[in-house]
Amino acid sequence: MFENHKFINQGLKPLEQLIKNFNSKKIFIINSKQAYHSLHSKISPFLKPYDCQFFDKFEDNPNIEDIKRGIKLYNDFSPDLCVAIGGGSALDMGKSINFLANQSESIENLIMGKSKNFLEPKVSLIALPTTAGTGAEETSFSVIYIEKTKYSLSSKFIKPNSIIADISLVYDMPKYLAGCSSFDALTQSIESYWARGSDSKSSFYAIESIKLIMDNMIDAVNNKKASNIKKMVLASNFSGKAINITKTTVAHALSYSLTSYFKIPHGHSVAFFLPPSLKITFEIADQKVKNKINNILNLFGVYTIDDFIKKWKELMKTCDLNTNIFSYGLTSNDKELIISKVNPERMNNHPVELSRQNLKQIVSEMFYIFS
Ligand SMILES: [Fe+2]
Repeated sequence: MFENHKFINQGLKPLEQLIKNFNSKKIFIINSKQAYHSLHSKISPFLKPYDCQFFDKFEDNPNIEDIKRGIKLYNDFSPDLCVAIGGGSALDMGKSINFLANQSESIENLIMGKSKNFLEPKVSLIALPTTAGTGAEETSFSVIYIEKTKYSLSSKFIKPNSIIADISLVYDMPKYLAGCSSFDALTQSIESYWARGSDSKSSFYAIESIKLIMDNMIDAVNNKKASNIKKMVLASNFSGKAINITKTTVAHALSYSLTSYFKIPHGHSVAFFLPPSLKITFEIADQKVKNKINNILNLFGVYTIDDFIKKWKELMKTCDLNTNIFSYGLTSNDKELIISKVNPERMNNHPVELSRQNLKQIVSEMFYIFS
């Protein structure tokens, strides 16, 4: 009865009823250690009546070794409900473990796309996002790194069955994390809007998300105003709904090497790649895509791409996101590495075909803008 239920900004109380309705006795909880530490007093009363096994010993940016350890613990415990609490990494970790724990195929084959022989998870998954950014609670895919290469595990069975997204879970985010999360949501929504696979539904969520973010991001991140943070919770959820339909495009595709090789958080990495991607795409796009980019400029209240880039950088600075790419140890010699690690799957969603030369232009432009 409570499958596929969603509670946005309705407090945490619905968690009590949700667990009851899943008829649960044993709950496997995948949680970000840091996030759960500050939320313990708010969430633990709901979990107290149950036999709970926590799994929190995993790195940011889910890797296959951590997932395998999680699956072992999960199967030894044999839960009847799974709960994921945290930012994008913890939610993806929860989605991957709950899904992969019940597969007969080798999990490497499933992750690398060599097999689509998916089995349905045995138990339901409730997602509680603790950042307003990734929208991971809404997507049917999860990010997994195998030896620094990013894969996207994708199946309709991965998406959480129920969601509790609430301001009380995100309010205490440190400013830099709030900034990175906001830029992730903003970048995802822009990429979804122009993506090859966009439709009226995805465009609606993408545009609403961009509007909400532009209206609320500064006061939410900088001034911690509750009414604005609430709107960011919604914007993040909409961003997830949008990319669940379209997936992301070139800015995300190029960003993963910054995260795995230079340890730049995901939201910050995509923030570096959105402006140069927008600029080069506009130069080679047909009128239909140019119109979409003009609509994006409109939503930013600017008329030119140069002004868009200026505004984007100002926003980054306001949110404490460093705008000098060289301060992360990158040099111009890393251009080839970034291009060689581009994610081909996400590239195919881009609205225009990008040659290797175009990718070089985007990466060079990124170094120029953020020097
Ligand atoms: Fe993202």
